[in-house]
Amino acid sequence: MKERKAELRRKYDTTAKAYDTRYTDIQNRKYLEVFSKFDVKVSDVIVDVGSGTGLLLDFLHYNKGNIFCCDLSFNMLKEGKKKHQHDHFVCADSEFLPFRDSSADIVSSFTVFQNLPNPSAVMNQIIPILKYGGALILTALQKKYKIEDLRKLIAQTNLKIDTIWNLTYEDTSVIARKVENKC
Ligand SMILES: C[S@@+](CC[C@H](N)C(=O)[O-])C[C@H]1O[C@@H](n2cnc3c(N)ncnc32)[C@H](O)[C@@H]1O
Repeated sequence: MKERKAELRRKYDTTAKAYDTRYTDIQNRKYLEVFSKFDVKVSDVIVDVGSGTGLLLDFLHYNKGNIFCCDLSFNMLKEGKKKHQHDHFVCADSEFLPFRDSSADIVSSFTVFQNLPNPSAVMNQIIPILKYGGALILTALQKKYKIEDLRKLIAQTNLKIDTIWNLTYEDTSVIARKVENKC
């Protein structure tokens, strides 16, 4: 497991400079589709897990709330910091998220979960960070995550699904809320 993470970190560290050129268009299509179903408030605190170079931050722009970009790859974050000197970039493994309980209105994660060796462990980190009523916005590559797989992941938690669907490009997507009582 450690090896897999080290391998991923190396891969993204090595390719960080080329990431935006290669992926801005495709990731923007995903953000556009997801945020046509979900409004972000300027006051929202957002933790973006596996943020990479902060393309989500670029996309949300003025309407971004207070976003914390969090990634395993230092070089991906460094590219993000070049674009957004005054925003928050945190180098951390998603299995050990350094955020306080009930501190986030939104936890997002775009095109990351298909890479994670232990997705349930990451969910266990995400849930406490979310406020009650807060939203998890998660997408993952369809070739690894079908809608049923995302449903199973959410079923283990106290999140309630608002919407779950296949994005037009590449990913499966879910928007779910943290509730006190699922029934
Ligand atoms: C396909 S990129 C997606 C980046 C960004 N979410 C986007 O929309 O452009 C996957 C990102 O997940 C990060 N990642 C992979 N495993 C991780 C882990 N265990 N903890 C935190 N980030 C991780 C990688 O470093 C990489 O930046």
